[in-house]
Amino acid sequence: MCGITGYIGHKQAYPIIINGLKRLEYRGYDSAGIILNENNSFKLKKTKGKVSDLEKICSNLNSTATVGMGHTRWATHGIPSDKNSHPHLSNNGKIAIVHNGIIENYDTIKKMLLSKGFTFQSETDTEVLVNLIQYIQDSQKLNISTAVRVALNEVIGAYAIAVIEVDQPQEMVVARLSSPLAIGIGDNEYFVASDASPFIEFTKEAVYLEDGEMATITLKGVDVHKIKDNKKVNPIIQELKISLEEIEKGGYDHFMLKEIHEQPKSIMDTMRGRLLVEKGIIQMAGIWDYQEKFLNAKRIIIISCGTSWHAGLIGEYLIEDLARIPVEVEYASEFRYRNPIITDEDIVIAISQSGETADTLAALKLAKEKGAFIYGICNVVDSSIARLTDAGSYTHAGPEIGVASTKAFTAQLAVLTMIAIKLAKHKGTISKEKFNSLLTELESIPVKVEQVIKDTEEQVKKIAELYVNVNNFLYLGRGYNYPVALEGALKLKEISYIHAEGYPAAEMKHGPIALIDENMPVVVIAPKTTHYDKIVSNIQEINSRKGKVIAIVTQEDSQVKNIVSQAIEIPAVSEYFVPILASVPLQLLAYDIAVMRGVNVDQPRNLAKSVTVE
Ligand code: F6R
Repeated sequence: MCGITGYIGHKQAYPIIINGLKRLEYRGYDSAGIILNENNSFKLKKTKGKVSDLEKICSNLNSTATVGMGHTRWATHGIPSDKNSHPHLSNNGKIAIVHNGIIENYDTIKKMLLSKGFTFQSETDTEVLVNLIQYIQDSQKLNISTAVRVALNEVIGAYAIAVIEVDQPQEMVVARLSSPLAIGIGDNEYFVASDASPFIEFTKEAVYLEDGEMATITLKGVDVHKIKDNKKVNPIIQELKISLEEIEKGGYDHFMLKEIHEQPKSIMDTMRGRLLVEKGIIQMAGIWDYQEKFLNAKRIIIISCGTSWHAGLIGEYLIEDLARIPVEVEYASEFRYRNPIITDEDIVIAISQSGETADTLAALKLAKEKGAFIYGICNVVDSSIARLTDAGSYTHAGPEIGVASTKAFTAQLAVLTMIAIKLAKHKGTISKEKFNSLLTELESIPVKVEQVIKDTEEQVKKIAELYVNVNNFLYLGRGYNYPVALEGALKLKEISYIHAEGYPAAEMKHGPIALIDENMPVVVIAPKTTHYDKIVSNIQEINSRKGKVIAIVTQEDSQVKNIVSQAIEIPAVSEYFVPILASVPLQLLAYDIAVMRGVNVDQPRNLAKSVTVE
């Protein structure tokens, strides 16, 4: 959560930082701030609200400063307010900081600083850290870089920070522990940011700090050291692969809509080079290099959060069904705190779009400590989770900027499907014929997704108009489509603020059925696959109580169409692939309802794209 960015070079810093903040706004958007070093004097502007609000209060800034930092916040300590916004200044007004993360022992440090006469303007842990840096600098007569290092050795928590000192306009100190931080290497200029998006038009070269590293950046270069013992580190310069086009809206009203439309391509990109139908193979080095591990695994445990957890549930159905390996799916936040039994015969798979989710990262570290082989399915290349794992498969969905996950989810399903089919082949749990037919069918999925978007987009908009004012929704599905119901409900609630619950359809009669009356829309995923008759019975149960059913049905299925209020058709496919196709109209439904309700769908309230706090 929170996005930080900074610039040190020869260009005007203000526009670079403001544009950078706009790109990082997906990380948090309840307040924003900027600080510039103008001829050895700080110019600080910050406000509750979005980066656009910050721009308004900066309209008369006229800064020529070539050094500065910015922050976009997702509140942890202290409500969103002008005072709690970053950057924060030390008591002597000489040191400024921007911070993404949490300082857990801030209270103890604050008490110590109060006893030394320090005062605080905000309720944040970050203001405590910047004053600790000042205290250490003053009392030990240290330069800023050393003072930051000594201070960081006293804090417990997670951070990506950037620090500047008013009297040292040619220097910026940055550090990271469990929160991402990239340094863009330009031509005699340097960029700092939570990810590379703020600087991709300026440079294609970046250094990603590792956990426990800090860097002192001057116009002469970047000096990387270990925070613990100041040991010098030779930074690895990486070439950035993302393009500007990928992180812009490209004519769509919202990133979410663009990302829904990108799914045929993102699924295809995820399968490219892996699904080789003509050769009759699925090529996944991450799996194949460790084939013994996978084929002999006693159990696979999938850990993740939110939408990625829903993908994990579908993964469980796929892997157990096809490859007959027992799978458990856990919320990372529960797994990490419940003393789980893990052995070196287990494989732990983490699924994460961002690769930075704090709970997933911590759960994975725990699994690694306990000896499990850990595998990652991440979208962001070189993210913390991707780097921690023993092996993995990237989803090649491209940058996902809308806060509600769409294309990353279907790309995760594509990877999990390939893993399940590949393991099934090598374990001999499916026939060669079935393997070949699954390959062919999987290859056709991107085109079918495209078809679903084309065929259902207008219809879904009309359905959205009918339900835009309701307060509750129920989503039901069975088997592979139970997690699809969970995901449909999550999409709706997070961007429209309508209360929505997902349930296994058969569970309805154990409680939720009490909610059904003529005002309750129920979305039922009812394709003509296994459990079809049973889901038809569930629909009848809803009808008997006058509920309104919106069903996702297989093309040419007339039975369900005749008994529901609205039917949205998807092409007929094997049940393994239905979740990918059925999710698309549910994404569109959530999107349309949210837009009609006037919600900023790309930045819904209280959420952030990358949840780097637990
Ligand atoms: C919902 C959504 C979240 C994320 C969750 C995990 O649309 O995006 O529920 O899925 O925060 O994030 P990652 O996948 O980055 O670990």
